[in-house]
Amino acid sequence: MSQVIPATLIAGDGIGPEIVDATLAALDALKAPFEWDRQVAGLAGVQQAGDPLPKATLDSIRRTHLALKGPLETPSGGGYRSSNVRLREEFGLYANLRPAHTIIPGGRFDNIDLMVVRENLEGLYIGHEHYVPIDGDPHAVAMATGINTRQGCRRLLEFAFETAVALGRKKVTIVHKANIMKALTGIFLETGLELYERKYKGKFELDSVIVDACAMKLVLNPWQFDMLVTTNLFGDILSDLVAGLVGGLGMAPGANIGSEAAIFEAVHGSAPDIAGKGVANPTALLLAAALMLDHCRLPDLATRLRKAIDETLNIDKVRTGDLGGNAGTAAFTQALVSRIANG
Ligand code: NAI
Repeated sequence: MSQVIPATLIAGDGIGPEIVDATLAALDALKAPFEWDRQVAGLAGVQQAGDPLPKATLDSIRRTHLALKGPLETPSGGGYRSSNVRLREEFGLYANLRPAHTIIPGGRFDNIDLMVVRENLEGLYIGHEHYVPIDGDPHAVAMATGINTRQGCRRLLEFAFETAVALGRKKVTIVHKANIMKALTGIFLETGLELYERKYKGKFELDSVIVDACAMKLVLNPWQFDMLVTTNLFGDILSDLVAGLVGGLGMAPGANIGSEAAIFEAVHGSAPDIAGKGVANPTALLLAAALMLDHCRLPDLATRLRKAIDETLNIDKVRTGDLGGNAGTAAFTQALVSRIANG
């Protein structure tokens, strides 16, 4: 067995602890060599340590450079700033990788195998927002500033292009809105075209599409795309759309990768409407754990995990409610662990 790998574990809020328990059961069955350092963040951070992103959690990730994270609750409107966004900023997690792969055949869209690579630190997500009060209305005008830098665009595009080459992807599509936001998203398109010409020409096909047309094309004919690479806000929206093509948020994993750390999570949130009911689908976090195993150069374990998930869903037909089944989280986990043990 390989060396022990220290990793930070954040159970998260809402359904987080339930899906994290399921994922740990699967990783234990695989004998994955992670040595977990359990920490808190989000609402649990506020409740247990008086901080949505406690220093101990940051120190832990600074030490391990690796984390598996359940969803973290963020209040809408007022309240504290998203711990997810702060984690990305703190550790320079500039690339968000979101693969979408059909696991259960026969859905509205079959045989989907798409990768969305999203810039994770810049654009309209930098939090430079304010209101201008007029005539006694404190929220009369709302303003936001977006910032994209040449360097930020280049490192993300380079990451995407390197990933495309490593995974043998045939085509990369740059998604932008450079016809309207000529500077903010024009710089991303311009940098991508320049980088491709200089370093990647011939290694894969490159094209570009405006974000609104991309959304329509994804619904009409998603198979025309292979890998999408885009700025922060567009990537956030399109990756949820793409998750919908393969059965919804319960099936969509995400990896946040930077030079100092990598954090793996489900794309979905804390699902407060079903928290504590034992019905959450842990597949997205399980698939995130598979990405984490890939990242740690344990591809055999990643393959075994993906195969066991596939068999549990398609051969045993043990499925949670969001997938039309009637299994709870525990029954699904039990079936998955048996598949791993017998695989
Ligand atoms: P959500 O993703 O938590 O839920 C949307 C819908 O999908 C709900 O009906 C929920 O029950 C369902 N759903 C989500 N995951 C599921 C699963 N694994 N199994 C079965 N059903 C599932 O989105 P929502 O309600 O907008 O956000 C709730 C909270 O989560 C907010 O505080 C938000 O800020 C936070 N959030 C955190 C994220 C993260 O930590 N990466 C990402 C997205 C939202």
